Amino acid sequence: MRSLSDAKSESDLNSVKGIFFGKKGTLSEIMKGLSGLPIEERKQVGAAANAARQTLEAAFDARLAEFRERERKTRDAAGLIDVTLPGRLPAAGHRHPISRTMADIVSIFNRLGFSTRLGPEIEKDYYNFEALNFPADHPAREMQDTFFMDGPSSDLLLRTHTSPIQIRTMESSRPPVRVVAPGAVYRCDSDITHSPMFHQVEGFAVDQNVTFSDVKGLLTEFCSMMFGERKPLRFRPSFFPFTEPSAEVDIECVICGGKGCRVCKGSGWLEILGCGMIDPAVFGFVDYDPDLYTGFAFGMGVERIAMLRHGIGDIRLFFENDLRFLSRF
Ligand code: PHE
Repeated sequence: MRSLSDAKSESDLNSVKGIFFGKKGTLSEIMKGLSGLPIEERKQVGAAANAARQTLEAAFDARLAEFRERERKTRDAAGLIDVTLPGRLPAAGHRHPISRTMADIVSIFNRLGFSTRLGPEIEKDYYNFEALNFPADHPAREMQDTFFMDGPSSDLLLRTHTSPIQIRTMESSRPPVRVVAPGAVYRCDSDITHSPMFHQVEGFAVDQNVTFSDVKGLLTEFCSMMFGERKPLRFRPSFFPFTEPSAEVDIECVICGGKGCRVCKGSGWLEILGCGMIDPAVFGFVDYDPDLYTGFAFGMGVERIAMLRHGIGDIRLFFENDLRFLSRF
């Protein structure tokens, strides 16, 4: 390898470079020889040698750039991976906002002394309705838009609420009980605030001298722990077959701040839960003495609470699994 034009690769280039710039290379020899020359000549030769060095360096650099460019093109053409490029990190997953909200609700009640119980999603008519004081043919059954496993006379259905866990718990334990019960529930209903599958958290307590003011205080405390501030609450008299008296609880609409919007249907309030004092008739099914014990129960919609918490106006977004939505949390 004698000249720049012979060099075919970066390593050829390096060996040609040695001929000029190496320890024993031409330029180095010339520089060493300078000291033996008379001063005038030394100046001339030195200047010429420097000029030659600059020209040579420029030529080497140009050749090097040429080689690198050629290499890049072959690599691109072959579709080879450039390992020097920064990697694309896989997107990290996280819990679904509904699971997180449900876990947060449960953890607040756990801290307030309630222990967690679960129940089956495919439930018997007896637990979902009958023992909750919905007699056969009672119109309140219609309000629940039930999915039956095998036609309306079927004994098995998709639970329409988490209240059957009240019965299952009371069947197997004696007072005092303080239980929180989260889970998926099903109703044949769908619009911007209803989904056919949604989640509830049930809570109930039975003991001597439990009163309505206990549930009122508990739920007020819960809301301030959940939303981090005192949001106005409204207790509205209502009806459930398994509680008497009963109330529905509304929270000020966080989408519009109470002014009225399409999410709160113009009312300024969003219903987040139902509650009441457990009806003595229910105690009859689980063999609790209604003269000795009283209890309260409540059931809340997890999606509603997640919507309030994150200011989301359409419940269906939670179930579309669009990553652009989910990755906001
Ligand atoms: N189970 C009722 C519902 O789904 C809510 C509720 C629970 C009401 C407990 C009162 C007591 O609508």
